[in-house]
Formats: sequence, C-alpha cells, structure tokens
Amino acid sequence: MNILVIGSGGREHSLTWKIAQSPLLDELYVAPGNGGMGDLATLVNLDADNHDDVITFCREKNINFVVIGPEAPLVGGLADRLVEENIKVFGPSAKAAALEGSKGFTKDLCAKYNIPTAAYGRFSEAEKAKKFAAANGAPIVIKADGLAAGKGVIIAESLDQANDAIDDILGGQFGSAGAELVVEEFLTGEEASFFVLTDGKNILPFGTAQDHKRVGEGDTGPNTGGMGAYSPAPVMDKNMISRTIDEIILPTVKGMAAEGRPFKGVLFAGLMITNKGPELIEYNVRFGDPECQCLMMRLESDIVPLLIACADGTLDQMNANWSDQVSLNVVMAAKGYPGGYEKNTEIKNLDAAGSAENIMIFHAGTKKSGDKILATGGRVLNITSLAATVTEAKRAAYAALDKINWPEGFCRRDIGWRAIEREKE
Ligand code: AMP
Ligand code: GLY
Repeated sequence: MNILVIGSGGREHSLTWKIAQSPLLDELYVAPGNGGMGDLATLVNLDADNHDDVITFCREKNINFVVIGPEAPLVGGLADRLVEENIKVFGPSAKAAALEGSKGFTKDLCAKYNIPTAAYGRFSEAEKAKKFAAANGAPIVIKADGLAAGKGVIIAESLDQANDAIDDILGGQFGSAGAELVVEEFLTGEEASFFVLTDGKNILPFGTAQDHKRVGEGDTGPNTGGMGAYSPAPVMDKNMISRTIDEIILPTVKGMAAEGRPFKGVLFAGLMITNKGPELIEYNVRFGDPECQCLMMRLESDIVPLLIACADGTLDQMNANWSDQVSLNVVMAAKGYPGGYEKNTEIKNLDAAGSAENIMIFHAGTKKSGDKILATGGRVLNITSLAATVTEAKRAAYAALDKINWPEGFCRRDIGWRAIEREKE
C-alpha cells in the first residue's frame, strides 16, 4: 500500500522510520518532512491546512492510508475530510480532537464521567477567573483553552502572577486560543505519559514514558515541547497502568462515544501520579514528541496493521510486542530555544554519531541543503538509544550526541535522572 505521513518533527521521523520497515508498504511519502527523512520516504511540499491539495495528492499517488502526526491538522478537520473522500486515516475527527483542542471541553468531560483530574473553573471574564483563583489560593494553574503550541499553561506561584496570566490570556496573548481559559488546582506528584491506541471502542495500551519539559537541568527554566524522554516510565507499574485504564482511559473512550465523538487514533494521557493515584493533567490526540521516538525504538511489531486497525475498528484483534529494553532520547535544540534562536547553522558528523548499534538520530527542525544538514527549528535532533537500563541508555545516547559537531546547539545533560535514581536504589 501507499502511505502518506503528515508532519515534520522528530515524532514523524520516528513514525516514518517504523512505517518504512513494514512489509505491507509500497510507496511512502511525508509532507513536508525534514532533513533526516529523505532516505526513507519521498518528501512532498504539501500544506496540511489545504485539504483540497492533500486530497488531490492522495488521488494522484493512490494513497491508501494517511498518518497524521501533529495536533493542528487534526483539530483542523483533516481526518474528517479524508474519511469523506474514502481515504483511510490514522487520527481522530475534529470533534474527537477537542480533547486537545479545548481544555475546557476535556475538563467538562472529566466532570461528567467522573474521571479524576484537578478541580477547575472555565472562564471568559477576567474578574470571575480572578475571584475563583483567589478562593483557591496559590499555587494555581491558568490555562488558555485552545491550542497554544505548548505555551498556554502558566503555573502561578502567587495570586499576582495568576491575575497577570489571566489578563494576558484573555487580553489576546494566544489569540483566539485564549478567548476562554481554565483555572485549576495545582497537583503534586510525579508526571508520566500514557499512550493507548483506540478505534473508538477497543483500546490497546501503547506504552508509557516520561518527558522532561523544562529547558534547564534539574527541571528548571521555561517549559518547552520536551527536552528528552525515556520509556517505559518506572512510576507506571502494572497497578498504576491498570488503574489508569479503568479510571481514566475507558471512561474517556466510552464517554466520547456516548457524546457522538468516537475517538480513533492515539490517546496520549498526561498524568500526575498523586498520593491518591493517577489524575489526568491533559489529553493530547497524537503521539508525544519526543516520547514517540522512544516508543518506536521499543516497538517490535509492524506498526502499520496497528494504525490501520484504529481506522477500521478492529483493534480487538491486535496485539503489540515490545522490547524489554529501555529507550531514552536526548533533544538537541538551537541555543536560545524556547526563545529566539539562529537558523541555518550547519550540523556536522551526524553519520558517524548515528552509526552505533541501537542508536537512532531522529531529525526535527532540520533541512538538507546539498550534502549539508542545516538546523532550521528550535528542537532540532533527537539522539535516541535502546539499552538494558536507563543508566546504560543514557550513557549510549550522550556518547553518540558528543560526536555531533554543532556549536550552535545545546542539550540537557540530565535526561533520565529520576529513573536513574530509582535504578541506584
Ligand atoms: P501542558 O502544556 O498542558 O502539557 O502543561 C504543561 C505542564 O504544566 C505539564 O506537563 C505539568 O507539568 C504542568 N501542569 C499542568 N497542569 C497542572 C496542574 N493542574 N498541576 C500541576 N502541574 C500542572
Ligand atoms: N512532549 C510532550 C508533548 O508532545 O506534548
């Protein structure tokens, strides 16, 4: 079959790498892709917002299956349009993607179906939001309702900070994504990511991971899209996985179906493991980036039938085999990220760095220019390893990373620290 992947990040590079290994595959295309994907697939300059162009391309190339990586095209209804045109797609409808597209929608769903999550209020008027924050006290969390490229969440340490965040969001800092906001209780515990594939009815647990969201070592500094991850997450033991499925995932899948918004695709639950158990921080309607890169390193099964089963409603007939090993990945970003950074700097020695066994360098913000690889984005490379322990996976990933010659890049040096402390115990 012919497959088109939509996206350009490290997540999509790892998905493309995995899909390229499928015996079911004839031709593989990625739109728009990045500088690391050219050997795996044909890169196509398509704008995912332009649904007509995507459909025309699919007809021209006889595309049988489209895999949508990022959230924006999903919230924008690309999956709906493909389904209307009888093209199979991995990824939820716009109505189901509201789980990521509107934080208020998800909080209301949690309230209706008894899903454990932080206490909250939804507001479009600053005065009411501030009153609610004052009644709860700091620390308190203020969130723009809509998609804000991972920047719409403010953990306010004081009420002054909360009030400023409320004014900024409702004042238009995030455009229409901030026409409404959620104010919610601050949860304490350890964060974990849990993934399930679902066809709207059946679920297939699809791995756990832990991300490192802050830009600085020791989890300090501003939030980013993620500076590194490992899978599995030790905090997600059998009992915690089973509680998460029973208390959070199944009520969501059933609730979404009951609301006339059946969810098909990958459901990514951002969890806080509190002393009461798992609580939902947020849902994403796509794979995590960089978590996906670790999952793809560990997945032993052919991914294509699994993704197709989500579209076909046959996930109950599927199983996935996973490596017992641990995968860890370190993000290299352009100096300055998540603020401003220089573009089009050259990255050297990538081939040698990526040549070790059980190392994959997935690209994110790169492009190929002749023989050169140039950095074009904030998060640029994902150095990903597979090894017996987190300690060993960390050593292998940084050994590869240290061979890369890119003076304009940086990384955190402590990816995996929580799990490594556990391994020492
Ligand atoms: P998000 O952009 O929704 O992933 O949120 C970014 C980060 O903010 C999360 O990964 C958490 O670390 C933190 N966060 C969000 N909501 C809460 C909450 N209610 N309590 C504590 N931390 C939170
Ligand atoms: N790494 C977090 C995310 O993909 O949202």
